[in-house]
Amino acid sequence: MGIGVKIAGVGYYVPEKILDNAYFENIVDTNNDWIMQMTGIQERRMAAPEQATSDLGILASKLAMEDAGISAKDIEYVVHHSVTPDMIFPGTSCLVQHALGIKDAGTLDVQAGCTGLIYALSVGYAYIKAGLYKTILVIAGDCLTRITDYEDRNTCVLFGDGACAFVLTATTEADSFKSFYVDGDGSFAELLSQPCSGSRIPATHEALDKRLQYLKMDGPNTFKLAVTAMTNSANKVLKEANMDSSQIDWLIPHQANMRIMESVAKKLKISEEKVVKTIHKYGNTSATTLGIAFAELVKEGKIKRGDNIVFVSFGAGATWGATLFQY
Ligand code: UT7
Repeated sequence: MGIGVKIAGVGYYVPEKILDNAYFENIVDTNNDWIMQMTGIQERRMAAPEQATSDLGILASKLAMEDAGISAKDIEYVVHHSVTPDMIFPGTSCLVQHALGIKDAGTLDVQAGCTGLIYALSVGYAYIKAGLYKTILVIAGDCLTRITDYEDRNTCVLFGDGACAFVLTATTEADSFKSFYVDGDGSFAELLSQPCSGSRIPATHEALDKRLQYLKMDGPNTFKLAVTAMTNSANKVLKEANMDSSQIDWLIPHQANMRIMESVAKKLKISEEKVVKTIHKYGNTSATTLGIAFAELVKEGKIKRGDNIVFVSFGAGATWGATLFQY
C-alpha cells in the first residue's frame, strides 16, 4: 500500500467577545427577526483589539498538536489560509511557525476565499502523498470583523472571527481522504471582494474615504451560485469515492447562511440531523467554519473515528470544492 494521510489532530479557537443580534439593532437598520430568518445567525465572535489572525491560529494549532500528541519539532511544513492575514506580507504561516517554535519547516500561505480550508488541506495532503513530508500543520484563520463595514447592514451582521488547525500525518494504514475536488472561476471575482489594499487599489486616503478597505458582497447572486456549486462539489466527491449520500455520517457545509446549508442538504438527500450547524453561534468565519464545526464536534465526542464526513464550501474568487474523508 502507498502512503496514506491521516488527520492526527484537530483544534479550534474562537475569541471570547460575543456580538449578538441586539448589538446590530443599535448600529444599523436591522432587527433580530430579519437576521434569524434570512441567515440563521444569533451571535458571532470578535477578536480582541490586540489579537490578529495569527494569534487565533496559534491557539488552534496548540490544541491540534496536543490532540495529535506531537510537538513543534515534529512539524515539517506549515500551510496557512486566510483572507485577513496579519499583514499582506510576510505570510501568516511564518508568524505562526515562529510563535509555535517550529524550526526547519516550510511555510506557505494559500488564499482561496471560504473554500480555503479545503484547498489548504489538499495541499498538505498532496505533499504527504508525494512522500515529501510526513507531518504537516494546516491552519485556517480569519478576523473578518477587521474588514467588515459596520455601516453596511447587508454584510455587517454576517461575519465573525475564528481559527481551526489540523495535523496531517503520513500513515501506512488506509488513506483517510477518499476524494478532493476544488474548482474556481475568476469571472465571478466581483461577487465578493475586499477592493482596497492590494496593488489594484492601494490604501490611499481617497480609497479609505470610499470605504473600499471593507468587504463588499453581492449577497443574492453569491447565494444562488453557492447552492449550485456546493451541491455539485459534494456530488463529485461522493462519486469519486464510489459512495452515496446515505453513507455519509456528517455533512459539514460552509456556514454562510442557514438557508444555503438546508438547500444543499435537501438536494443531496442528507437528513437534517447529519448536517452540522454552528452558524447560529459563530456566523460566517470564512474558510474556518468547516474546521471549527468539525473540531467542536470531535471535542464533544459526537464525531467519532471512522465516521465519513463531507466538507463542502463556496467562496470569494469564486472558488468552490469539497472533500470526503473518514476521520
Ligand atoms: O462566505 C462566502 C459565501 N457567502 C455567502 O454564501 C452569502 C450568500 N448570501 C446570503 O447569505 C444572502 O444573500 C444574505 C443573507 C446576505 C441576504 O439575503 P437575501 O435573501 O439575498 O436578501 P437581499 O440581499 O436580496 O435583501 C432583501 C432585503 C433588501 O431590502 P429591499 O430592497 O427588499 O427593501 C435588503 O436591503 O433585505 C434588506 N436587508 C436587510 N434588512 C434588515 C439586507 N440586509 C438587511 C439587514 N436587516 N441586516
